Amino acid sequence: MEINQYLNHKKQLVEDKLDSLMLAADGPFSDHIEAMRYSLFVGGKRVRPILCLASTEAVSSTRALLEEALIIGCAIECIHTYSLIHDDLPAMDDDELRRGQPTNHILYGEAGAILAGDGLLTFAFELLAKSRSSISTARQLRIIRLVAEAAGPLGMVGGQALDIAGENSNYPFEHLQMIHRSKTGALIRCCVQAGGIAGGADEQQIEQLTLYGEAIGLAFQIVDDLLDATSTTEVLGKSAGADQMRGKATYPAFFGIEKTKSLALQAVEQAKSALDAFGPPAAPLVQLADYIYARTH
Ligand code: IPE
Ligand code: IPE
Ligand code: MG
Ligand code: MG
Ligand code: MG
Repeated sequence: MEINQYLNHKKQLVEDKLDSLMLAADGPFSDHIEAMRYSLFVGGKRVRPILCLASTEAVSSTRALLEEALIIGCAIECIHTYSLIHDDLPAMDDDELRRGQPTNHILYGEAGAILAGDGLLTFAFELLAKSRSSISTARQLRIIRLVAEAAGPLGMVGGQALDIAGENSNYPFEHLQMIHRSKTGALIRCCVQAGGIAGGADEQQIEQLTLYGEAIGLAFQIVDDLLDATSTTEVLGKSAGADQMRGKATYPAFFGIEKTKSLALQAVEQAKSALDAFGPPAAPLVQLADYIYARTH
């Protein structure tokens, strides 16, 4: 299947599932839920849930397990959306445009945006912890723990803290790599691991999926840096050139555009080589790795 067709098909599945899982904006909390729903449904490529689904598909074709992966992917998309709402706050990257629309705090105020993020983060764990029939409690618990570790102080949140602390300062490349691996790579890696676990992957397969996830996670943020430096606000749906303006250390700032491209490509090739043993069921994961490099927004 063409990768674009695959992405569109899976994206629709994700949108429909998110809509059915998400709270309705009525009752006494309607304003708060409306703020959560705004950012969740304002667009987005849905790369993380799609990676989760594709990782389950790489090891299983059982319908109930794919349904499981869809719910896990939606929970991770809630965490990702919260991270963007907070990332855009005036106290962090101070951005007014996201996914082609005003950022959450522009519409709902800073307190509203902080709480919308808090709501999405917490709701994600409610989704992950709900009882299920198709997955064992041990597997479910392993997934919850992985997601918590990836999103938390030694993962995404820690990476965001280092990113903010590092503005306008000189630090070595190894530190930048660590920021990228934690602020963005960790959550992407955990989508792949969780998808594999939900599909019943054995330990050897989980190890290979972990290598794949780590490499595309890093590639994803390298390309994000690259697009910030080379694309336009119209195409990105978020302010281009913002990294340089805020004094962020980025791959292009360290290496220039061409070398950055080759480093992203190197990470993508490394990711693909981790999939050798999976055969045809991993074809979408291979194509997703290429897509992460070739994407335009
Ligand atoms: C943007 O993520 C923030 C990063 C972690 C680089 P995405 O590029 O996945 O953003 P959406 O969800 O498609 O808007
Ligand atoms: C964001 O990195 C990483 C997150 C955990 C949200 P960026 O700050 O580079 O993401 P964009 O460019 O604003 O989407
Ligand atoms: Mg940021
Ligand atoms: Mg940002
Ligand atoms: Mg960026």
